[in-house]
Amino acid sequence: MIDLRSDTMTRPSPAMREAMANAVVGDEQYGEDPTVLELERRAAAFLGHEAAVFVPTASMANQIALRILSQPGDEMLAEENAHVMINEQGGPAVFSSLVMRGLPGRHGTFAPEQVRAAVRDWSSGHMPRTRLVTIENTHNSSGGRTWSLEQIDAIAETAREHDLNLHLDGARLVNAATALGVPAAEIGRRFDAVTLCLSKGLGCPLGALIAGSTELMVAARRGKHLFGGAMRQAGIVAAAGLYALDHNVERIRDDHARARRLADGWAAAGLPVDPAQTETNFVQIDLAPLGLTWREAEARAAAEGVGISDTVNPTLMRAVVHLDISDDDIERAIEAVPRALGARDRVGA
Ligand SMILES: Cc1ncc(COP(=O)(O)O)c(C=O)c1O
Repeated sequence: MIDLRSDTMTRPSPAMREAMANAVVGDEQYGEDPTVLELERRAAAFLGHEAAVFVPTASMANQIALRILSQPGDEMLAEENAHVMINEQGGPAVFSSLVMRGLPGRHGTFAPEQVRAAVRDWSSGHMPRTRLVTIENTHNSSGGRTWSLEQIDAIAETAREHDLNLHLDGARLVNAATALGVPAAEIGRRFDAVTLCLSKGLGCPLGALIAGSTELMVAARRGKHLFGGAMRQAGIVAAAGLYALDHNVERIRDDHARARRLADGWAAAGLPVDPAQTETNFVQIDLAPLGLTWREAEARAAAEGVGISDTVNPTLMRAVVHLDISDDDIERAIEAVPRALGARDRVGA
């Protein structure tokens, strides 16, 4: 199976497994795991902050970050299809008692005027206090689209004007940084708290990080314990994270090049794909002209040995390129998927 359903499908490579097997470990909850401590030190610098906290998953990282940047009853603003809005089971409301307000987005981004218009005048005592803005870069449900530094700066300035905390869901921050041609820290340092996932493009079996000021990370560490994320000999996993920072960051550009090749190949074969939308490692297929449901499309592609998956938009499917996808896989997918979805019939139509 050429598994393009998600970049979470990567398996740790033999070299990563070797690094894990050789990890020096200790009790992480006691602050005694040297490999975790080393990963947190490296990740803080990588993300442009003073300190970082290692946690098991990116969802947990997001939920801890939102909790430490707000008080119960506060309101958070996010793009309406952001992962924290639609894919974490209402976690911000459940874990942090946040009022969740979705802003309509354009390719996953929103404008400072939208934030300004949404900030409530809570002085009368009736309304929730708008306190938190969260940005997702790259933005998953819009197809791995990026926020530019200028767009981020405009939101950061508005957040400062209105005393709002700013969080980055940087699950795919390395993809964003690669696409923008800047170090991840250049994006990360613009936020009060940044989260990074190790088990997507970076190819680890699990793990995520939250970064921020030393003071904020004291709160994050307490949050981690509260959420049940304080671990024991976690260095075995942190070693994968260190390996990924050393070996899997630069190579993200290969995933982006392969995604572009896939988008071009599929478009040339008559699949409804707009290659201009592929900024990072996602390719989106518009099912509407093909007259297929996503379940039909998924089954037909799977029967040809290619995994693609649905999105929040019922007529859009996605293919996500990652570390375990080779040039050969891309060429085979270019051949198989248009045939499976009946695109070739459209070329002469
Ligand atoms: C943008 C974004 N944030 C957070 C997450 C959460 O990651 P996990 O499911 O590994 O906790 C994901 C997962 O797909 C994601 O796409």
